[in-house]
Amino acid sequence: MKTFDHAIERYRSEINNRISSILTKREPVSMYEAGRYVLDAGGKRIRPLLTLFSCDAVGGKWRNALPAALAIEILHNFTLVHDDIMDASDSRRGRATVHKKWNENIAILVGDALIAVAYHSLLESTSGRLEEITSLFTDGLLEVCEGQTLDMEFEQMYDVKVDHYLNMIEKKTGALLRIAAAIGGVIGNANAKQLKALHEFGTFLGLAFQIQDDLLDVTAELIKLGKPVHNDIKTGKRTFLLLYANEQASKSQKLILQHVFNRTAGSTREINAVLDVYTQTKAPDAARDAVAHYTSMAEKCLDRLPKTEGRDNLRSFANMLLGRDY
Ligand code: IPE
Ligand code: IPE
Ligand code: MG
Ligand code: MG
Ligand code: MG
Repeated sequence: MKTFDHAIERYRSEINNRISSILTKREPVSMYEAGRYVLDAGGKRIRPLLTLFSCDAVGGKWRNALPAALAIEILHNFTLVHDDIMDASDSRRGRATVHKKWNENIAILVGDALIAVAYHSLLESTSGRLEEITSLFTDGLLEVCEGQTLDMEFEQMYDVKVDHYLNMIEKKTGALLRIAAAIGGVIGNANAKQLKALHEFGTFLGLAFQIQDDLLDVTAELIKLGKPVHNDIKTGKRTFLLLYANEQASKSQKLILQHVFNRTAGSTREINAVLDVYTQTKAPDAARDAVAHYTSMAEKCLDRLPKTEGRDNLRSFANMLLGRDY
C-alpha cells in the first residue's frame, strides 16, 4: 500500500474512533441522541484529515493535532445540521436529516451544542500557540456564518456574478478548509511563510471543493451522494453551474433558467429542462475546469513548503478530492 493510502486509512480510523466517543452525556435525551446520530453518521472526514496532513507537512506530529482536527470536524457537523434546515434538505450521509428525524428546534439546539463541544475539543490541544489556534477557529466560524448568510441572500437576488459567488463560497466552504490547514500548521509549529502557504492551500481547495459539490448536485447518484440531488435547482441556489449557464444562455434558454432563479423549478420535467440547458451551455465542463484550476492553484502553494513526504501527502490529498464522486 502506498504511504498516502496507509496514512489516510490510519488517520480516518483514529478520527472515527475518537469522534464516536466524544458525546458521553445522555440527558437531555433528544439532544444527545441527535448529537450522536450526527457525529456517528460517517462522512468523508476531509477537514480533520487536512489538519493532520498539514501538521505532518511542516514537521509536526499528527497525533498532537487530533483534538483540533476533531474540533473542526465537529464544527463542520454543526454547519451541516443548520445548513440542512436552511436548504430544506431531507437527507444527509444516506439518512434522514436531524430536523426531519426530530424537528427544527432540536436541530438548532444540536447545532449550537456542537459548537460548544467543538471548542471543548479544540481547547484540549497541547500547543504553545493555543491563542492563535483559537483565534483562527473563531474567525473560521464567523466566516462560515457570513458565507451562509450570503448564500441565503443570493437566493433572492438576480444579479449575482461569478465573482460574488466565489466570495460567498470562499467563506461558506473555504473558511473551514482554510482553518483546517492553518490550524494543523500551527500545531506543527509552522513558521509564518509556511502558514501562509497552508492558509492559501486550504482556501483554493475550498473553492474547488464547493464548485465540485455544486457539480455533484447535477451529476451524482443519490445513493452514492447520500443527500438529495437537484436540491440546488429546486431551492434556487446561485451555483457555479447556474451562473455560468445563464451567462452563456440564449433568450429561450434563459427563460428556462428563470425557473431556478424564481425557485419554481420543482417538477421532474422542469428540472430536466434546466439540466438540458446546463448540458447545452457546457456548464458541467466549465465547472470541472474550474475545479481543476483551483486544485492546481492549491497545489502550487505546496511548492512553498519544505520537500517532505508530508508535503507529497497533501498533494495526493488534493488529487484525491479532485477525483471524488460523492
Ligand atoms: C458538505 O461537506 C458541505 C460542503 C461544504 C459542500 P462534505 O462533502 O465534506 O460532507 P461530509 O462531511 O463528507 O458528509
Ligand atoms: C454547504 O454548502 C456549506 C456549509 C457551510 C454547510 P451546501 O449547502 O452546498 O452543502 P450540501 O450540498 O448541503 O452538503
Ligand atoms: Mg447550503
Ligand atoms: Mg445544503
Ligand atoms: Mg451542495
